[in-house]
Amino acid sequence: MHTSDRHDIEIDLFRRALMLRHGYDFTGYAPASFKRRVLALQAAVQAPTVSRLTERLLHEDGFVRTVIGRLSVPVSEMFRDPSVFRALREDVMPVLATWPQINIWQAGCAHGEEVYSLAIVLRECGLYERAHIFATDFSEEALARAEEGIYPLHEARAYSDNYLRAGGTGSLSDWYVARYNRIKLDESLRKRVTFARHNLVSDGVFGEMQLIVCRNVLIYFGDDLQERALGLFRDSLVHGGFLCLGNRESLAYSAMADDFERLSEETAIYRRGIRARRTI
Ligand SMILES: C[S@@+](CC[C@H](N)C(=O)[O-])C[C@H]1O[C@@H](n2cnc3c(N)ncnc32)[C@H](O)[C@@H]1O
Repeated sequence: MHTSDRHDIEIDLFRRALMLRHGYDFTGYAPASFKRRVLALQAAVQAPTVSRLTERLLHEDGFVRTVIGRLSVPVSEMFRDPSVFRALREDVMPVLATWPQINIWQAGCAHGEEVYSLAIVLRECGLYERAHIFATDFSEEALARAEEGIYPLHEARAYSDNYLRAGGTGSLSDWYVARYNRIKLDESLRKRVTFARHNLVSDGVFGEMQLIVCRNVLIYFGDDLQERALGLFRDSLVHGGFLCLGNRESLAYSAMADDFERLSEETAIYRRGIRARRTI
């Protein structure tokens, strides 16, 4: 047997242990990227083999939190892809303003960078008080960081540039205090945010949303899982609601494509067809 075969078997057993012992199902993830993440986890916790990871997963309380934290790639930034936030501000917010209550689901919120960015846009557009942001992720570690709203000071310059390019009307520094080598986002931005664990693999539809933002999450999924997640999004949106995907993601190959209209070629923001019928 080749070493690579043994590796694949170990990774398969690890995946099964995650599912059987802890209920996290990674079967639908893109295999190559999942394998890379497991090997990175192995290196990070200095496990001699992937089987050692599996053993710890089965016997060590709390190790699963580290595992999910490491497998989840919680990489983000405030106002990431500023043109998307500009489009949200200029094209989507005016429509959201026509609803009395604005529900927003931010799926795959990582450490909260996008959540606070959205909150700032809503504040600056005068819509925050009637908005509610449901910020979800499957990683408890990521959610705990997101709730803190604390980021390294050295990111502030890039975040500020993004904010201005996204059409920010003030200065990003109006929204945080800097202390030592960190910045802390204004607590008031959290007032209308609920952080919750939600797994796009196994959990269900999420209320009646006017806007769903899920960026740079589907890229880790295989085709079937992408389709499941897109189905959840469609069925969680009110008619005329908006879906914002990442710049490398689209509805192009999805059976869901007919239910949406794309706002422009520049961003992956879609509007659920007014005439499209709910399928659940
Ligand atoms: C690369 S980050 C994207 C962060 C942010 N949306 C952005 O675009 O900057 C991917 C996030 O998706 C989350 N994620 C991965 N699989 C998930 C799943 N099955 N259910 C919910 N969240 C998931 C990860 O924990 C991680 O925080």
